[in-house]
Amino acid sequence: MESKKKNTNKTLLLLLVDVVLLGGFWLVNQVRLTGIAFHEWFGIALGLILILHLVMHWRWVVNIVKEFFKRSSLVQHLKLVLDIVGFAAFFTIIISGILMSKVVLPTLGLTALHSHSLKMIHVIATNLTIYMIAGHLLLNVGTIFKMLKCILPKGRKSVAREALQAE
Ligand code: HEM
Ligand code: HEM
Repeated sequence: MESKKKNTNKTLLLLLVDVVLLGGFWLVNQVRLTGIAFHEWFGIALGLILILHLVMHWRWVVNIVKEFFKRSSLVQHLKLVLDIVGFAAFFTIIISGILMSKVVLPTLGLTALHSHSLKMIHVIATNLTIYMIAGHLLLNVGTIFKMLKCILPKGRKSVAREALQAE
C-alpha cells in the first residue's frame, strides 16, 4: 500500500516536471509577450529544470546505454539519439543566449557579444529543439497515458482496491 502511494507521488512529480518543461518552453518562446529580462532568467531556470528531468530519468539512460549494442529495440535507439540531440540543442540555445544576453551578462558586470550569427544559432537551435520535443512526446505517448492512468482518480481507486485485496 505504502509503495503504491510512493509510486503515485513519484508519477505526479515526473508529470509535474514534464508539464513545467513543456509550458515553460512555450513561454520562453514568447519573447515579445514576456519581455527580454524574464526570457533570459527563465530560460536559464528552464535549463536547470531540464537537468532535473534528466536526473529523474538517469536510471533509464544508464540502462539504455549499457544495452545499446546488445538487444535494445529500434525505438529505444531512436529515443536515445533524440535525447542526445535535444540535450545538445537545448544547451546551445542557452549558451548562445547567455553570450548575447542583454540583461544577464550586464547584470553581472560583463559585456555581451553583439553578433547576428549568435542570434541565428539561437533561433536554429530553438527550432531543432521544437522538433525534438515533438518526436520525444510522440515516442513517449504510451508512458504518458500510463502515468495519467496511474494518477487519475479511477486509477487511484483501482490501486486502492488492489491494495485492499492484497491485505
Ligand atoms: C520541453 C522539453 C521536454 C518535455 C516536455 C519532456 C517530456 C517527457 C515526457 C512526457 C517523458 C515520459 C514521461 C516521463 O517519464 O516523464 C520524458 C521522458 C524522458 N525525457 Fe523528456 N522531455 C523534454 C525534453 C527532454 C530532453 C531535451 C531530454 C534530453 C536530455 C529528455 C530526456 C528524457 C529521458 C531520458 C526520458 C526517459 C525516456 C526517454 O528518453 O524517452 N527530455 N520526457
Ligand atoms: C530554452 C530557452 C530559450 C528559448 C527557447 C529561446 C528562444 C528565443 C527565440 C525564439 C528568440 C527570437 C525572438 C525573435 O524572433 O526576435 C530569442 C531571442 C533572444 N534570446 Fe532566447 N531563448 C531561450 C533562452 C535564452 C537565454 C537563457 C538567454 C540569455 C541568458 C536568451 C537571450 C536571448 C536574446 C538576447 C535574444 C535576442 C532578442 C532580440 O534581439 O530581439 N535566450 N530567444
